[in-house]
Amino acid sequence: MCGIVGYLGKKSAVPLILDSLRTLEYRGYDSAGIAFLDDDNLFHIYKAAGKLVNLESVLPDSTPLKSGSHIGIGHIRWATHGAANEINAHPHHGGHQEIALVHNGIIENYFEIKQELEAKGRNFISDTDTECIAQLLEQLTSEMPSDTPEQFRVVIQATLNKLVGAYALSIINKKFPNHLFAIRNHAPLVIGKGENEYLVASDAVAIISHTQELLFLKDKEIAEITPEGIRLTRLDGTPIEAVLEHVELGPLQIDKKGFKHFMLKEIYEQPDVVRNSLSGRLVSAERPIRLLPGEPKDSLKKQTLDTILKYMDRIVIVGCGTSFNAGLVGKYFIEEMVSVPVEVESAGEYRYRKPIISDKTLIVAISQSGETADTLEAVRRAAKLGGKILTITNREDSSLARESDIVLPVRAGVEISVCATKSFTAQIIVFYLLGLAMAEMRQTASESQIKELKTGLLKTPALIEAALSNPEPVQAVAKQYGNAANVLFIARGINFPVALEGALKLKEISYIHAEGYSGSELKHGPIAMLDESIPVISVLVPGVVFEKMISNCQEAKARDAQMIGITSAVIDSQKAESTFDDLLQIPESLELLSPLIATVPLQLLAYYMAEYLGKDVDQPRNLAKSVTVE
Ligand code: M6R
Repeated sequence: MCGIVGYLGKKSAVPLILDSLRTLEYRGYDSAGIAFLDDDNLFHIYKAAGKLVNLESVLPDSTPLKSGSHIGIGHIRWATHGAANEINAHPHHGGHQEIALVHNGIIENYFEIKQELEAKGRNFISDTDTECIAQLLEQLTSEMPSDTPEQFRVVIQATLNKLVGAYALSIINKKFPNHLFAIRNHAPLVIGKGENEYLVASDAVAIISHTQELLFLKDKEIAEITPEGIRLTRLDGTPIEAVLEHVELGPLQIDKKGFKHFMLKEIYEQPDVVRNSLSGRLVSAERPIRLLPGEPKDSLKKQTLDTILKYMDRIVIVGCGTSFNAGLVGKYFIEEMVSVPVEVESAGEYRYRKPIISDKTLIVAISQSGETADTLEAVRRAAKLGGKILTITNREDSSLARESDIVLPVRAGVEISVCATKSFTAQIIVFYLLGLAMAEMRQTASESQIKELKTGLLKTPALIEAALSNPEPVQAVAKQYGNAANVLFIARGINFPVALEGALKLKEISYIHAEGYSGSELKHGPIAMLDESIPVISVLVPGVVFEKMISNCQEAKARDAQMIGITSAVIDSQKAESTFDDLLQIPESLELLSPLIATVPLQLLAYYMAEYLGKDVDQPRNLAKSVTVE
């Protein structure tokens, strides 16, 4: 949610900043901007509404852009306050083009600050909350001594002390062309130290191709970066040691590998993602699950994990969006296997409730990015109350991972498409492994059931491959129903979360209104909507709720809805014809593992519907991959 970049060094700042911004576009694409000082110490700011390419097209082809600037900041925006236009694009300055800054976060008291500053005669030009930081900073430089970097730093502190909200900031000041400032408070920011250069970014992936020596800022820390090094202090000015870590993180592969969109590529990567996620953890049906393979036997982590696996008597899963849906699959599975109560909470709600937590409560945070603001805050709240935190994430270097007792990486590989697909599958795999490991430790399931599930999991990559091998029937259905205004998804049991996920995928990238329901809920309200204009997509696999689902589908069919079934069952042809208009067959798997397979046609369906409608599949409007504001 907004990406910021800063550069100070010997290379040409502008192309480098643009390259780094390109890797951050998953965080927002409403507008982009860049500010830099050229070697004659002149200030330049360029901005454009829309994607980064629009900014690139307005940049003049002049020398400072290519070689004559060595300090600058850049931004890609996901709009919170103010429309997605050029004026509201960052960087913002205080009116005199002397100080410029880029911001990720939300300033909650911006309105009060703006009123105060307007009363002092300052003119605001944008509708953003960010401009109040730039204006305040400039105002305070006129009220306080600010002729040296040290004094300017005190002005920054005074500015920050007036702000309420979340911010990651990078600031440049014309007076100090060798000083780049970086500040974090409830929004991620990392500083990289390269050879004769420093880089600042919202995400390590943006700078990892330049350096692996990273400093992950903590909340309320200010970094003053000069060619001599990083001076780190707290908001009150107390100095802190700047400790850099060596981080091994592959450079971001931005390659569609021949697929038209990243989303399709990522859907097709799922068999390998499952293999990767299982690797070393589930080796054979006979061997116990190892959640942390390679971890020394006597390590503290191992002890914490053993405590979690053996003694926790209640589990609370917190997450948002697709991660929340994956958490629901986790709930069904863990309750079935371990008989421990599991609640799944929307992190944005949980963080403001009064959580009931004992020393035997395990909080499982689930997040692809590991940076979702609500999930992070929910975890912080729970940790303060004594909960043990286990995080399931695709980003081991994320803020969430850093604040957890145990991290279980999902190993999905970098996911570029805003619409999550392979990370959902990998998250579910980790929940299966967690449930199985707990059941093994506690002996809450029979050996034969555990063995059967392990065998089933090992077969999953091949089953997903089979589900992906014949997309034509899904394409045909997508085309047939692509003009629907509303779509319902229904399922029951462990596939209920799959219905929610199918609806979320469709809404997100095609902008068609879609809802997921338990098949049993239809008659409690949604059935009133049904007529021949509404497709109802039903997931039904053999098992506990199969016959119930058939009845729910017939109830919908009786109201003239267009019925599309997704099933692994061989349904009697007469029954099938009288119930479904279209039937998409998926490979058969164990009922408890079937969400891994049933999700695939729903991902494809959403993709092909959006593609048929000509939507921007990988960067759907109004969304961002990493939601770092609440
Ligand atoms: O990074 P997270 O998993 O914490 O993100 C949570 C949601 O923002 C995310 O799943 C969102 O719903 C996706 N765009 C869904 O495709």
